[in-house]
Amino acid sequence: MSDTARRVAEAADLVTVALDELLPRGEGPEGRLTEAMRYAALGPGKRLRTYFALETGRMFDLEDRSVLRVACALECIQAYSLIHDDLPCMDDDDMRRGRPTVHKAYDEATAVLAGDALQAAAFEILADPDTHSDGVIRSELVARLAMAAGARGMVGGQMIDILGARDDLGGVARMQRLKTGALIACAFDLPLVLARAKDSQRHALMGFAQDLGLAYQIVDDLLDAEGDAKTMGKAAGKDAGKGKTNFVTLLGVDAARERLGLLSKQAKAHLDPFGRQAEFLRASVDFVLERRS
Ligand code: IPE
Ligand code: IPE
Ligand code: MG
Ligand code: MG
Ligand code: MG
Repeated sequence: MSDTARRVAEAADLVTVALDELLPRGEGPEGRLTEAMRYAALGPGKRLRTYFALETGRMFDLEDRSVLRVACALECIQAYSLIHDDLPCMDDDDMRRGRPTVHKAYDEATAVLAGDALQAAAFEILADPDTHSDGVIRSELVARLAMAAGARGMVGGQMIDILGARDDLGGVARMQRLKTGALIACAFDLPLVLARAKDSQRHALMGFAQDLGLAYQIVDDLLDAEGDAKTMGKAAGKDAGKGKTNFVTLLGVDAARERLGLLSKQAKAHLDPFGRQAEFLRASVDFVLERRS
């Protein structure tokens, strides 16, 4: 196991334990809802957003404890977005993270509600004084996550995807920036808020996040075209099957790989100002490019 893989696995354990503590356990009829929330959020995700947040925090000497709450909020939004993305009215998928999707394990209504409640949970976690003692910082975290998750971020990107409203690379890139780029960028952005980072540092890390997010989606599209469902824990061949335009259908596999090479160099160059302190973020680029699931 590479150093990065080990650190990612450690980050995943940390956030899963923290989420287990933070997520509600309902009694009576709500028990079904909280069980479904837990099924989705505590399942075996890669937790890369958590990893990015923790490593960014460490670069600024933040305590893992406060960054972990931010990571929990990010993972709640991630889990909610995947529950809804898998619904029959969206991508209609049966498998996620190697297990039946929430609407298969429970039912559609429960899946919609579990997604809704996970979204609310994300903001409840950020707004809690345990996340940061300064209310101004907390409201900044809430505002930035809301922006990344909503109509000008992830949900807006999902709308573009569902409508098939893109037919060139520019359109696909714009969809990606919203659909998956915004939440990935947030994994860097929120620790920067906690660290009260300088504008120049924010600028450099946001440049990095943008290239990394783009690379992340190109790998997702490549895996959709070439990966196998068993390793990925979710269906393959969905995008082409649905006639969806993405980076790989437009560029082809070889040019998509070439673009990944360029993005990797460009992403790492954004980290130059941080020198050796950015060692683990730099290594995460290769980890993202080499992922098979
Ligand atoms: C899936 O996200 C959606 C995309 C960003 C393409 P991940 O690949 O990070 O999924 P999990 O959280 O590890 O399951
Ligand atoms: C959805 O993108 C990303 C979300 C905002 C949930 P995809 O539909 O490509 O994600 P997968 O391939 O199902 O994980
Ligand atoms: Mg989708
Ligand atoms: Mg999908
Ligand atoms: Mg996909």
